[in-house]
Amino acid sequence: MKAVKIGTPAGVDNLQLVDIDDPGQPGPGQVRVRIHASSLNFHDYGVVSGVLPADAGRIPMADGAGVVEAVGEGVGEFKAGDHVVSCFFPFWENGTPTIGDFKTTPGDGVDGYAREVVVLPSHYFTHTPKGYSHAEAATLTTAGLTAWRALIVDGQLKPGATVLVLGTGGVSIFGLQLAKAMGASVIATSSSDAKLEKLRALGADHTINYRENPEWGKTVRSLTGGRGVDHVIEVGGPGTLPQSITACRIGGHIALIGVLTGRAGPVPTAALMARQQRLQGLIVGSRQDQRDMTRALEVTGIKPVIDSTFELAKLGDAFRHEAAGAHFGKICVSI
Ligand SMILES: NC(=O)c1ccc[n+]([C@@H]2O[C@H](COP(=O)([O-])OP(=O)(O)OC[C@H]3O[C@@H](n4cnc5c(N)ncnc54)[C@H](OP(=O)(O)O)[C@@H]3O)[C@@H](O)[C@H]2O)c1
Repeated sequence: MKAVKIGTPAGVDNLQLVDIDDPGQPGPGQVRVRIHASSLNFHDYGVVSGVLPADAGRIPMADGAGVVEAVGEGVGEFKAGDHVVSCFFPFWENGTPTIGDFKTTPGDGVDGYAREVVVLPSHYFTHTPKGYSHAEAATLTTAGLTAWRALIVDGQLKPGATVLVLGTGGVSIFGLQLAKAMGASVIATSSSDAKLEKLRALGADHTINYRENPEWGKTVRSLTGGRGVDHVIEVGGPGTLPQSITACRIGGHIALIGVLTGRAGPVPTAALMARQQRLQGLIVGSRQDQRDMTRALEVTGIKPVIDSTFELAKLGDAFRHEAAGAHFGKICVSI
């Protein structure tokens, strides 16, 4: 069967399509899953490019969706034929977070889903939302669940609240869709006017070009009558956090999610303190969060926004497309 492995040295231009052994039949507690789709995340880019070093020959991709082909003894959660999607933290069942690294994350600390078949313990998966294609389901593991956790689990989002999303990547677009479905209003930013138009078509109430308007935090505040937003999906990191603090209301919530502008930098701590904001770091979510999100997606009818889909053999092209930043929403891989 086919798989993609990260070559040595790691690099987007050194992804290798290889033949590997079929993993065989599932043992007790395991499931055999035929993987049909994956999707790209900034984290996967870090792993394949070598910025986040992984073991030699690692099979990348945290997101995987497909069909259960067989279940081992003692597996009650799934049966053959079920459609399933992978979990970013297979060992975090529910409750408050207990894992602060990527040692157990598929595609980083262990092999991921850039392969045709896996045999894994059943807790590596959950059921997909009914009516989702494999590609749609594959967008949920990382981007979807991160937005869900930020707004619904940590944010306790209420109808009527205002949410700020930054840029048009996978997490931010999910954040916009979830916020609108919950009856919130959304302010969205992008570097591209064409993408701002797409954001408005998706329901964004206000849009700002962050490149043309580097003081977008003040603009967000004035769009909310001087109050500021209730929640920020902060995917930028140090380069955007000062503006996000300006944009967020007194006592508001900033979900600190991303590193698009770097991994460390100065934080205006006095402003954060004076505005009494809750700055909450987070990494994805638990299996229970994923099941809760799945139910909500079925009821709301939200479908992920897929920018493009690449064949597994063209995974390098998919990552080059992501790095070019022309995408809107999720880039998927068919396997
Ligand atoms: N903590 C977690 O659990 C978690 C989970 C998922 C992702 N993340 C992180 O969240 C970030 C986004 O991930 P993703 O997968 O959604 O990425 P992505 O799909 O690759 O999104 C990239 C988009 O971000 C926007 N962007 C880039 N620089 C920006 C800036 N300075 N200000 C505002 N927007 C900017 C661009 O949008 P425009 O083209 O519209 O300008 C770009 O298209 C990454 O840092 C990733 O590592 C964290």
